[in-house]
Amino acid sequence: MKLVGLVGWRGMVGSVLMQRMQEEGDFAHIEPVFFSTSNTGGAAPAMAKNEKTLKDANDIEALKKCDIIITCQGGDYTSDVFPKLRAAGWNGFWIDAASTLRMENDAIIVLDPVNLDVIKSALNRGVKNYVGGNCTVSCMLMGLGGLFQHGLVEWMSSMTYQAASGGGAQHMRELLTQFGSINAEVKALLDDPAAAILEIDRKVLAKQHNFSADETKQFGVPLAGNLIPWIDKDLHNGVSKEEWKAGAETNKILGLGESFGTKAIPVDGLCVRIGAMRCHSQALTIKLTKDVPLDELVDMIASNNQWAKVVPNTREDSMRDLTPAAVTGGLTIPVGRLRKMQMGGEYLSAFTVGDQLLWGAAEPLRRMLRILIE
Ligand code: HSE
Repeated sequence: MKLVGLVGWRGMVGSVLMQRMQEEGDFAHIEPVFFSTSNTGGAAPAMAKNEKTLKDANDIEALKKCDIIITCQGGDYTSDVFPKLRAAGWNGFWIDAASTLRMENDAIIVLDPVNLDVIKSALNRGVKNYVGGNCTVSCMLMGLGGLFQHGLVEWMSSMTYQAASGGGAQHMRELLTQFGSINAEVKALLDDPAAAILEIDRKVLAKQHNFSADETKQFGVPLAGNLIPWIDKDLHNGVSKEEWKAGAETNKILGLGESFGTKAIPVDGLCVRIGAMRCHSQALTIKLTKDVPLDELVDMIASNNQWAKVVPNTREDSMRDLTPAAVTGGLTIPVGRLRKMQMGGEYLSAFTVGDQLLWGAAEPLRRMLRILIE
């Protein structure tokens, strides 16, 4: 059995990964070694087999013994440890949730229901680094993969509605703290049916403007009752790093673009943080390469993979099945609001939602592990 090192398994993404690996019985096929950056020598979790204690996640010699390492520890860890490990001659498989190595030439972005061919060809070439994609990109491709598969996307514009979890666990806590503070501020007025709504609104705004530094430590500004039209770094060309990733990663996942000797598909839009917990949603405008009837497009989307599910474009279905609250905790990627737009038969609208901790983070990693051990 392959010796598989697990790093960062206690954090938010790592915990979802552990849960999914248990649900799918992955531990039956590997010999796990649990690493820690803070508790070396402590007890490994119940899934441990022969190695019952935690190893030091910075110990290159201990890491070198692993055939495969999966890390959800984050970009700083990858930047620090990965080069040392390779420099020390380690030739195992590195599976990583962090974005650090994603765009490197010797790394593949993994999303096997969509790009198994790209992964297989990389394995044949001896590529050893496999990295999970940006959550928004992965969730979009799981939903709309069918249109790309059939070469129908000339370009795509994605307007996102991204959840707090994309920032991390502390961001989710901060969102809830903000909601709580706002509610506490107006609780008495809410309990009084005669209270004026504009008075309530004024107090909510005053609270948002006066959040303590602690209440906006993660996001910098209020998110509860608000939105933030910028995610990740400012690339100083009017584009946020999150927006740049949409085009760069979509093409890399699909094996398109200059480095593959083909033309890239333009994917661009604005990324916006909203007050959802852990599901990213996106409104898509797709310019098709040709006018294909809607029912055929629906079939292509639904048959691309077993998780993409077309939601009928009705008010009831959209409200029930096409929301973060409906999707959280599940692997299904609903795709709805599918209709041809006023601009013409080659313009398709779509709305899709995905749990960014599952398809957006943990799931592609554990599936890559299964590809390696089967
Ligand atoms: N950059 C994403 C976000 C996280 O902030 O929502 C997942 O890649």
